[in-house]
This record gives sequence, C-alpha cells and structure tokens, in this order.
Amino acid sequence: MCAYGQTFFLLCLALLCCMSGNAENLYDKMRGPAVAQKAEAWLSQMTLDEKIGQMTQVDITALRDPQHITTYYLGSLLAGGDSEAPDIQPQGWLKLYQEYQKFALQTRLKIPLIFGIDAVHGHNNVQGAVVFPHNIGLGATHNPALVQEAGKIISQEIAGTGMNWTFAPCLAVVQDERWGRSYESFGEMPDLVSSLGKAFVQGLQMPESKRPITIACAKHYMGDGGTTQGQDQGNTECDEPTLRKLHLPGYIATIEAGVGTVMISYSSWNGKKMHSHHQLITEVLKGELKFPGFVVSDWAGIDQLPGDYKSDIQESILAGLDMVMIPNGPGLVNPDGSVSLNNNYVEFITYLKELVQEGKVPIARIDDAVRRILLVKIASGLVEYPYGNPDCIQQIGQASHRAVARECVRQSLVLLQNRGQILPISKELSRIHVAGKSADDLGNQCGGWTISWQGASGQAISGGTTILQGIRQTVASTTQVTYTKDGVGVNGADIAIAVIGEPPYAEMFGDAKDLSLALDDITVIQNLKQAGIPIIAVFIGGRPRLIQDILPDCNAFVVAWLPGTEGQGVSDVLFGNAPFVGKLPISWPKAMSQLPLQPGQSTYEPLFPYGFGLK
Ligand code: BGC
Ligand code: BGC
Repeated sequence: MCAYGQTFFLLCLALLCCMSGNAENLYDKMRGPAVAQKAEAWLSQMTLDEKIGQMTQVDITALRDPQHITTYYLGSLLAGGDSEAPDIQPQGWLKLYQEYQKFALQTRLKIPLIFGIDAVHGHNNVQGAVVFPHNIGLGATHNPALVQEAGKIISQEIAGTGMNWTFAPCLAVVQDERWGRSYESFGEMPDLVSSLGKAFVQGLQMPESKRPITIACAKHYMGDGGTTQGQDQGNTECDEPTLRKLHLPGYIATIEAGVGTVMISYSSWNGKKMHSHHQLITEVLKGELKFPGFVVSDWAGIDQLPGDYKSDIQESILAGLDMVMIPNGPGLVNPDGSVSLNNNYVEFITYLKELVQEGKVPIARIDDAVRRILLVKIASGLVEYPYGNPDCIQQIGQASHRAVARECVRQSLVLLQNRGQILPISKELSRIHVAGKSADDLGNQCGGWTISWQGASGQAISGGTTILQGIRQTVASTTQVTYTKDGVGVNGADIAIAVIGEPPYAEMFGDAKDLSLALDDITVIQNLKQAGIPIIAVFIGGRPRLIQDILPDCNAFVVAWLPGTEGQGVSDVLFGNAPFVGKLPISWPKAMSQLPLQPGQSTYEPLFPYGFGLK
C-alpha cells in the first residue's frame, strides 16, 4: 500500500473504531502484556505490608502525617465532599496532590498514589471550575453524545489539578424522590441510566496525550436508588429478577465502556448490607460480569457492618472489596488519656495484617485485590505520569468548557406548561420583573457537592453566571430588568419570571417526607399575581416537588433542575435563542400518596408522565 493509501486506511479504521465505540478501552490496556507483566513483577516483590497499604485509602483530613504515606505504603488518598485543600484554587489543589504524591514515590517500589475526588458535576471542589447540571438534568437531555462531551471536559478539569480518579458517575436508578440523592441519578428508567452512564464513562476515560486517563467510578453498587421510601443508605426490598432488571443494567453498560472502578453502596438488599455481599460483589460483578477493575468501599462503609472493626474488615474483604475508604485517623486521645478506637487507617492495616496471618483472609484474596489496583494504576498511565501534566491547569474553567456546560443546561430544560404560547419571551419588552430566591444565586443553581459537601446558598464559585445575569445579558438594551427576591415591586412590568425551588442539600440531609413547595416560593407567586401580568416559573431543584398550588397562576412552567454555573443556558431558551428539547427523566407526582411512582404501575396517574416535555 502506498503511503497515502495507508494513511487513508488508518484514518478509516480510527473512524470506524470511534463510531462503533470499539476504541481501545481501559480493559484492553489492562490486558496488554506489558501492563500485566509490570503488575506481576511488582506483586512478586511486595511484602504483606506493601500489599495492604495499596488496599488502604485515607481521606486527606484523616492523614495525621504525610510521612504516613511512605511508612504505611498507602495506595490511595481521597478528598471527601468537605475535605478541602488549604487553597481551593486550581493551583492549590495541584500543589496538594503533587506534595502527597512525592511521599508515595519515596517508597521502595515507588508505586504512585491514586487520588480520588467527587468530581460529580464538574471538578466541583475547585474554585473556578465549570459546574455542569447534576445528573438529573443531564438525564433530561436524553443525549448520550452531549453527556460524553461533558465527561471529557470534566476529566480535563480534573487533570488540571494533577488527579486521575473521580467518584462518578452515580448509576442510581431513582425510584422514590423522597431520596435526598435523587439528583445524583440520571432518572428512574434503567435504559436511560445505562446509556448516559456509559457515555459519561467514555468521556471521562477518554485517553489524552501526556497525562493519565481519568478513571471513572460507577457507584453505588447496587440498588442505592431503590430503597424503601427513598431512605438514604436504606434497604432495597425486591426479588433478584427485579434487582437485576432495575439496578444492574447501568453496571453492565459501564463495564462495556471499561469503567476502572466500582464503589459499593451503603444500602442493603433485603436486609443484607451491600458492603458484605459476596454474591453480588464477587459472584455477580467480578464473576458473571467479568469486571476486571477494582472495588472500593464507600466512606466508612464497612464500619456499618455488624460486629467489631476487625470483623467488618474480614467480612468486607472476603466479600470482594479491594480498597477501603477510611475517613478516620489515629491518635484520637480521650479525656482519660486512653486512645480511642475509631476505626482509623492504622487499625485497618494492623487488623488486616493479623487476619492474613491468622489465615482468616487468604493471601490469594489480597493478591487479587492488589493486582486489580496495580493494573488500573499502570494501564491508566499513572505510573508513567505520577504528577499528571501541570500544563492542563490552563484548561480549568475555560470558555470552551463553559460553552458545553451551557449547552447541557439548554438541553436539560423541561417545559411543563406554556399557556397562550407565552414562551419564548420577546427580548424587546419594556420591563421584565425577575423574582425568587434562586434567580441570582449560584449556590442554589449548583446544589450540593459544590465547593462543600452540602453546597450552600449564595456560595460563589467563580466564573459562573446566575440566571438573572443571563437574562440581563440576553434582552435588548432598551429592556429594563428589575429584581426583588419576594416579587414585591412587580407593578408596571410586562412580564414576571419567578425562579424558585430547592436550596442545596446532599445525601441524607436531602431526605424528605413532604415535597410540598416551600412557603416562600408560594408567596413569591402570590406577590407577582397582584400585577395581573403573565408569570413564568423556573423551578430549580434536584427532583419534582408538588406544584399544583402555583401551576394555575403560572402561564409557563420550566424545570431547570440544578443547572450549575452556566445560568445563561436558561435565558438562551427562555428568550428563544435555543429550543426546548428536554424531557422528564422522572415522573412528576400529584401527591405524596402516589410515591413511589413509576411508569407501568396500574395506578400510574402522574401530573406529568416520564418523558413529558413540550417543544
Ligand atoms: C458518598 C459517596 C462519595 C464518598 C466520598 C460518601 O458519603 O456516598 O458518593 O463518593 O462519600 O466523598
Ligand atoms: C464528607 C463526604 C462524605 C460524608 C459522608 C462528609 O464529611 O466530606 O465526602 O460523603 O461525610 O457522611
């Protein structure tokens, strides 16, 4: 073949691979002979202490002394939702990462740390990073190509701080929106969660030159979204065919995409904690689904097993956990001078070593865990680039990244009502009055898992645009835009826009028995009503709320979910610069008594069904 012909052939092949999704994925790399040989070579040299170190993941707030990384051969660190670098600018996180990595590279075998962080809707602990809509909003786009692009950008922002592992995507299939983590789910249907989860992993794990692949983590295995009454960390009660039909497909799909890691759920299945579920972890995930990556626990997840800490360790490692996430450090001294046993990482290491020496945990199980961890580290390129590529820092929060997040916001908006075709709004009106607690609040727009674990109203993550700012940037220069939080002062306007909904929350703090709208939101609509002008409601929140009290008073009702930093995406669609394309990823109930509410139920009579969305 001539040189041109060869180039053409290679190009076609590359294109074909991309189109069929068969591009070499992480597992192909893990199976490559050089990678496998390197892992085996290390394994054959490692002492028991070095092996157990690899299985230990310590939160940065628990690490008593960075020297412990070297002393205990720690395999991993994480920064939990509230575990901050002293400086949360990109430079501060990069510095923190690189300083810790130095200690790992001072060990005999120089095996680098893999550093995990909850970059769940952007690199959301980093000041200045772009924040995407939470998964429920991405679910409303029903657009895997766009979600893949989002994943790719998030991986680039993670790489900007040197790191290469994120605890995302969450594959929960939310069955009951009383659950405080509903917004971490792409939606209530397993096929939607599978297609978007797979796309997200493909984006995150997209190979880039001169830096490691960002490793994704499918979580929380399994059944986290199906707990009774939506209780966080609760019990998922169903038979095995139902469990497999609803909660397993996301894992099958992300394993097809080569997901590197899986996190175990705090929840139980029919009363048995997932953290000790040998059948589901070892037999199903690693056996039947042939998952070759490694399994990590949730934050102190093994501590919830019955029995003392040593038995928790025994049970969970035997069930198939490869790495344990530990948020406690040693040396907590009680008032009486005794040192408290708080399930810290030194205890973990001590007990696991004893369990091996006592023959209670076979060395083959330890070797299997360590091999999996080493394979992921080597195949991802971490060993080659342990400090990442510092040049990537330029990419954090850049305009092209914000443009993609803005497109995600546009496509996530769901139009539930549009009486009299009031939308799109003309840009030439003489006065628009904007109201509501979430109109000018980046913290509310971003929700939980933003800068802090719970998120916070008003919390500024730099570089973003509030919905109010977006409206001001969109209308004609002759249009006056006024704003009051409570809607008072609306008189004289042509039209009112109320941006209302849920303030930020995360995990169990978001669990709710009553999803009625907050009183202050109802008051806003009452105040706006006085003017007798059309009202457009924009709902910010992680899940449906009961809206019948205000729906008759609103000419239009738009669900914007938790859009993140790019509030301009909302005004783009309100003013007709982009169309409404979003569709509900979750059924919208009429009353609490309907929950749990899902398509297919004989009594299915939602206010708006799954998939609803006006054009
Ligand atoms: C959450 C996980 C998260 C982990 C680390 C846990 O509480 O359930 O989703 O990845 O903390 O922050
Ligand atoms: C951490 C989170 C974690 C949570 C679990 C918080 O303090 O920052 O990452 O998910 O605790 O309870």
